Amino acid sequence: MKHFLDIHTTDQSELRGMIDHARTMKDARAGRPKGEADDEQPLAGRMVALIFEKPSTRTRVSFDVGVRQMGGQTMVLSGNDMQLGHGETISDTARVLSRYVDMIMIRTFDESVLHEMAEAADVPVINGLTDRTHPCQIMADVMTYEEHRGPIKGKKVVWAGDGNNVCASMLHAAGQFGFDLTFTGPAQLDPEAEFIGLARKAGSTVTVERDAFKAVEGADLIVADTWVSMHDSQSSKERRHNMLRPYQVNERLMAAAKPDALFMHCLPAHREEEVTSAVMDGPASVIFDEAENRLHAQKAVMRWCLGL
Ligand code: CP
Ligand code: NVA
Repeated sequence: MKHFLDIHTTDQSELRGMIDHARTMKDARAGRPKGEADDEQPLAGRMVALIFEKPSTRTRVSFDVGVRQMGGQTMVLSGNDMQLGHGETISDTARVLSRYVDMIMIRTFDESVLHEMAEAADVPVINGLTDRTHPCQIMADVMTYEEHRGPIKGKKVVWAGDGNNVCASMLHAAGQFGFDLTFTGPAQLDPEAEFIGLARKAGSTVTVERDAFKAVEGADLIVADTWVSMHDSQSSKERRHNMLRPYQVNERLMAAAKPDALFMHCLPAHREEEVTSAVMDGPASVIFDEAENRLHAQKAVMRWCLGL
């Protein structure tokens, strides 16, 4: 059974294979209408459950469209509307769903839910974001960087802001794809030490630099994310904004990186907060390619899970 739960727990060569496969599939359907089927229909006859315990635009639509392009069918389920939200155990839910569907993608809060689901399911389970990680996003990010600038290996990526779930998966990717990562943000919001340790153990240089301008010197890619994630309390908003304001990605900060540095954001973004519109809509930004590549990268992830 091949689950896609995290980047650091997936074999390096398999990750590389998925990125390359995603690129091939993207090229193969260039210029076609979005609803047109791929030439290959590897998911014909397959049913995929997409479970959301948190809101989503990109993950929901890109998985749904991706499955359909590959000939499969989807059902989008809201955690609240399922018995899952009313006390049925994760394990029982996983065993029941395994009798109806061929694969499960879940976006949830605590990552233990994802792991219990994977443990009990007889079908592959994909992590569509937890409070702690967001691996599908970072597969799309690696694909996007390489599409624009070639191999990411050995490059300097700077994460500016909150050391959150998306940052965690970026650290996992640093170890697996061999790039260096500099985190710049307030000490209270540092990424988990365990994840920094994993990336270092895998041979990446991970640096923590409180001064955003120093951090971006020599950067090939600058990445930002929201300052208040879905799992953060709204009451912490003002405190977080006050801590994070010095880490806003604006034109001045971009100018301190390499001249050809790219900007990425998983979206949804809060314009003029973690990033300015000038950067989001400027020449360094590849945010909409990044959003599109969720579709292609996840198609490769799903095929890998099903061995297709
Ligand atoms: N980047 C991302 O996962 O977006 P959604 O929350 O809209 O799915
Ligand atoms: N860090 C954000 C990412 C959203 C895609 C969150 O968890 O809300």
